[in-house]
Amino acid sequence: MSSFKLRINGRSLQVDVDPSTPVLWVLRDHLDLVGTKYGCGIAQCGACTIHVEGSAVRSCQLPVSAVEDRPITTIEGLSENGDHPVQKAWLEHDVPQCGYCQAGQIMSAASLLNNNPNPTDQEIEETMSGNICRCGTYTRIKAAIKTASGTQEV
Ligand code: FES
Ligand code: FES
Repeated sequence: MSSFKLRINGRSLQVDVDPSTPVLWVLRDHLDLVGTKYGCGIAQCGACTIHVEGSAVRSCQLPVSAVEDRPITTIEGLSENGDHPVQKAWLEHDVPQCGYCQAGQIMSAASLLNNNPNPTDQEIEETMSGNICRCGTYTRIKAAIKTASGTQEV
C-alpha cells in the first residue's frame, strides 16, 4: 500500500492503494467515479478511456503510480453541465443505444477534437477504431463528431 495524490476533474484527491492498481479501479472502487466503464481490462475496447494531461488513455492498463500529479479528466469532469460540444452533438444525434461504451467513446472523441479540431473522415475512423461498440452505433458516432467539429452532418 502506498499513498498517491491525484488530480482528478480539478480536485486534489488522495488514495491509499498498491502502486500497480489500475487507475480504472481507483476511479470506480475508491473514488466512486463509476462513469468510466470496465469492458475488457486489456486495453482493447476503449470503455475505460479517460484523459491524462488532455490525451485519451485506457485506464484499465494504467497503474496509479504513473499518474500522480498529472491532471486526469473523467467523463464526470468533461464539462460542468454536460454541455461539452461532443456531449451536445451526442444528444443531437441520439448516439447511445445501451450506453455502456459511450463514456469511453465521448472521451476519445473529445480528445481527438482537442488535438485536431477539424479531423478528416479517415482521422475520425482511425482514432475511434480503438473504441468498440457492441451495439454498432458507429455511424451515429461519426456523424456526431462531424457536428461537434463543425465540419458537417448537422
Ligand atoms: S476496459 Fe480498458 S480498454 Fe477495455
Ligand atoms: S451503445 Fe451499447 S455498447 Fe455501445
